[in-house]
Amino acid sequence: MADLFSLKDEVAVVTGASRGLGRDFAQTLADAGAHVVCIARTAQALNAAVDAIQAGGGAAEAMALDITDEAAVVRAIADITMRHGRIDVLVNNAGILYRKPAVETATADWRSVIETDLTAPFLLARETGRHMLTRRYGRIVNIASVMGILGRSTVGGYVAAKHGLIGLTRTLAAELGPHVTVNCLSPGYIRTEINVALQQDRAFSTMIETRTAAQRWGEPADLRGALLLLSSSAGAYITGHSLVVDGGLTSILA
Ligand SMILES: NC(=O)c1ccc[n+]([C@@H]2O[C@H](COP(=O)([O-])OP(=O)(O)OC[C@H]3O[C@@H](n4cnc5c(N)ncnc54)[C@H](OP(=O)(O)O)[C@@H]3O)[C@@H](O)[C@H]2O)c1
Repeated sequence: MADLFSLKDEVAVVTGASRGLGRDFAQTLADAGAHVVCIARTAQALNAAVDAIQAGGGAAEAMALDITDEAAVVRAIADITMRHGRIDVLVNNAGILYRKPAVETATADWRSVIETDLTAPFLLARETGRHMLTRRYGRIVNIASVMGILGRSTVGGYVAAKHGLIGLTRTLAAELGPHVTVNCLSPGYIRTEINVALQQDRAFSTMIETRTAAQRWGEPADLRGALLLLSSSAGAYITGHSLVVDGGLTSILA
């Protein structure tokens, strides 16, 4: 049964791997046997993530780049496929958000969220997808959010980008099949740096505890099983799907 979820001898690319969910995803894929190419902008944090994987016996390398830089993305994917001969798994995880009402949001901030959370995953999937089509194998996992299903005030760009990412996932699934699968993993509220302000807000935490069947915030480890399912042979017949891992937040009217 373990073979079904094994990534032995595979090459995986994880964006936003320097901290938070991406760092845990990179460790999870390495634990499953993959060589993981870890991408983020900040070299120091990225190197620390790679060192931790290697210290645990896993295989990983750091590639510092900004995923909104199209030329850098094109170069990076070409470089990885040339050096390793393959990319089996792409996890489009890097993301940002700004919290401000729409009427106070600067266009530059809106564009920056759309560029990072929607356009960059498209670029990475396009470049990697071409290669996966040729090899007739691939797993693309786009990290969306429950904000790809629900609206919420003050995060308009983020909500729009994540809704877009779920739509893009469905279209890529149609175009890249039958050997390449494309899915979303859509987390609820998971404790990372992106939501420190919400973690410190007692009223918000109480909302999470009462609105979720799990009665708690999620932890990065809560996503490992879903990530492996969508990244491995186990997920061969799952594509175009948004797998929500939110402790029941979007299923239950509390
Ligand atoms: N945490 C949650 O509750 C939650 C829930 C639903 C969805 N998500 C999604 O999960 C993903 C990860 O979230 P997180 O909570 O782990 O966030 P995080 O702790 O803020 O980490 C974000 C990661 O993305 C990288 N990044 C940001 N902009 C980048 C760019 N232009 N180029 C390359 N790398 C970039 C950051 O590294 P650098 O700053 O060094 O580049 C960092 O590694 C995001 O897509 C987020 O929307 C999170």
